[in-house]
Amino acid sequence: MQRDALRDARAYLRWLGRMGMVIPRAEVQAKLDEMQENTDNHGQPRTKEAGRQLSRLAQVVAACRKCEIGHTRKNSVFGVGNPAAALVFVGEAPGAREDETGKPFVGPAGNLLTQELARHGVTRDEVFICNVLKCHPPNDRDPVADEIIACESYLLQQLDIIQPKMLCALGRFAAATLLKCPIFIMKLRGSWQSYGGRPLFMCLHPAAVLHSPANRSLFSSDIEALARAYHAAKGGPGAPDIRTNR
Ligand code: URA
Repeated sequence: MQRDALRDARAYLRWLGRMGMVIPRAEVQAKLDEMQENTDNHGQPRTKEAGRQLSRLAQVVAACRKCEIGHTRKNSVFGVGNPAAALVFVGEAPGAREDETGKPFVGPAGNLLTQELARHGVTRDEVFICNVLKCHPPNDRDPVADEIIACESYLLQQLDIIQPKMLCALGRFAAATLLKCPIFIMKLRGSWQSYGGRPLFMCLHPAAVLHSPANRSLFSSDIEALARAYHAAKGGPGAPDIRTNR
């Protein structure tokens, strides 16, 4: 949305008000705020510029050899989705399938995530999905401190560019890395914490459902709560209150 169009829209609304039309102010303000948010300082759609910046960063990541797994992976897995997404998912690290394809969450756990999001009215295209680590740790071993430290700046840069309204940590590892402390995901799942000043939702990892089908309903209820907050935040007021976890 161009700045001119935004100015014209405001002027038109003022005129309607003067003509005695009843205008639902909160709704209109939320829409105008959204239009403004989606526009950069030069009046260009933010998505395009963010997309360019993400592509440049993806090239830097593809050339990264800051740690050991930069040498052993087949493809870096930067992340995919909407460059101006309101919601960013952060998983642990790419698996073997992701290493092959260069895309996050494309294996069975990813399919489960995609299905569950769709059930709650969210498509993969409208959000952004990435991992704490951008490279596959051999034999699916746990990421180590050096790798996490080397990679975190890429995640921070991604968030700077995307400017999401909220984040979702998928699983214990991502949650603990972002919170910088050990956690019990079964205790924290479904709650709102914060990372870099943004609301951070704690969600069970979809792989936990593959390991134990009894986790299915927990995962579904996590995604349901997240989707509710996401839809509310996109529609204007109603973003989650991370102090009360509602
Ligand atoms: N698990 C993750 O945490 N990330 C992926 O990309 C795939 C599986």
